[in-house]
Amino acid sequence: MKPIQVGLLGIGTVGGGTFKVLQRNQEEIKRRAGRGIEITMVADLDTARAQAVAGEGVKVVGDAREVIANPDIDIVIELIGGYGVARTLVLEAIAAGKHVVTANKALLAVHGTEIFAAAHARGVMVAFEAAVAGGIPIIKALREGLTANRIQWIAGIINGTTNFILSEMRDKGLDFDVVLKEAQRLGYAEADPTFDIEGVDAAHKATIMSAIAFGIPVQFDKAHVEGITRLASQDIRYAEQLGYRIKLLGITKRVPKGIELRVHPALVPAKRLLANVEGAMNAVVVHGDAVGTTLYYGKGAGSEPTASAVIADLVDIARLHTADAAHRVPHLAFQADAMSDAPVLPMSEVVTSYYLRLRVADEAGVLARVTSLLAEAGISIDAVLQREADEVGGEGSTQTDLIILTHDTREGTLDEVQAHLQSLPSVLAPIVRIRKEELS
Ligand code: HSE
Repeated sequence: MKPIQVGLLGIGTVGGGTFKVLQRNQEEIKRRAGRGIEITMVADLDTARAQAVAGEGVKVVGDAREVIANPDIDIVIELIGGYGVARTLVLEAIAAGKHVVTANKALLAVHGTEIFAAAHARGVMVAFEAAVAGGIPIIKALREGLTANRIQWIAGIINGTTNFILSEMRDKGLDFDVVLKEAQRLGYAEADPTFDIEGVDAAHKATIMSAIAFGIPVQFDKAHVEGITRLASQDIRYAEQLGYRIKLLGITKRVPKGIELRVHPALVPAKRLLANVEGAMNAVVVHGDAVGTTLYYGKGAGSEPTASAVIADLVDIARLHTADAAHRVPHLAFQADAMSDAPVLPMSEVVTSYYLRLRVADEAGVLARVTSLLAEAGISIDAVLQREADEVGGEGSTQTDLIILTHDTREGTLDEVQAHLQSLPSVLAPIVRIRKEELS
């Protein structure tokens, strides 16, 4: 059978890796796909660089629409990124009857409903393994491997930049700003790291996983997004003294009232495997009712790890594109007419446990007042840590840190108590609150 022909839009790091891996493993890939897979055309604004990366046999153009218009191209790979021109080109490729492979998590998390509906109507596939956790085949696992399960929750370290920063802060006792600069110098963090450090990138990925796990539409606008920019190294230290590590988690959970979808720093028990994922690595824990807890670990970014996911999608399409569209794997794991309308819950309805740090006056009755306010709201305390004032504020200090770990409570309830605690004259600084996930 003649090789399936692929056009590539945007040839950066991942595009270059895709060429390399396709070439290096071409025989192995062909044995799996049942036919060859060839990237025959590339569109990139920098045509000279693109030609150098793609090699002489590949047609390089400056206009992506030339690729989409080419009747010989069966699959378009979109590696441009962002929600702008990428959205237009993906929709145009679908309209032209091309299958699409994309690594673009932002595009799918925000415009996925429109894109999947267009693909469904046109009978083409949109594949996106590379959009979540780079080389880890988590989409395949959720959509196919775990298909027997009622998935209950997913918790993942799905942003390598922030995990690298948190690992360095803990290892070296450094503050966020210092580590961020170092991460940029080493090339781990982008020159503009906003999407990573503010949790947006992780929320895009969590949104996609949530849709596949629970058969709901992608709803990035409903996700709660918090990054790591306000984390202080002293909280990482206190958490460690209590047996926890702080990680930026993407969490989605099925609860009786609906679906939780949130990204924020969280204390994780140090004994959990997820707590021990260090540096720029990614890991995702999925809990299904039949299989129990499963863990997926690997590189979440980089040239060849991401190319590994892109090529897996190319092979899937090569195997399935002659199949009746109704018999292919649905984009979001559930049949398009069987999606759930379970609501994504507001944070006030989320039930979890908390780490609270209160800078308080070191005087009689403060601890009693704080704990009685929590007790009156029905919030049960799991652990308390208080350091000597001298250790916290220096010799002769009259202030100290009071650290409280709570048991599970509704976030709305804690919001109210926290406002009350904050108004106490003996509470001297804004209360630090970090969610805690036992993952048991
Ligand atoms: N910037 C991401 C990360 C990789 O740091 O994990 C691409 O999603």
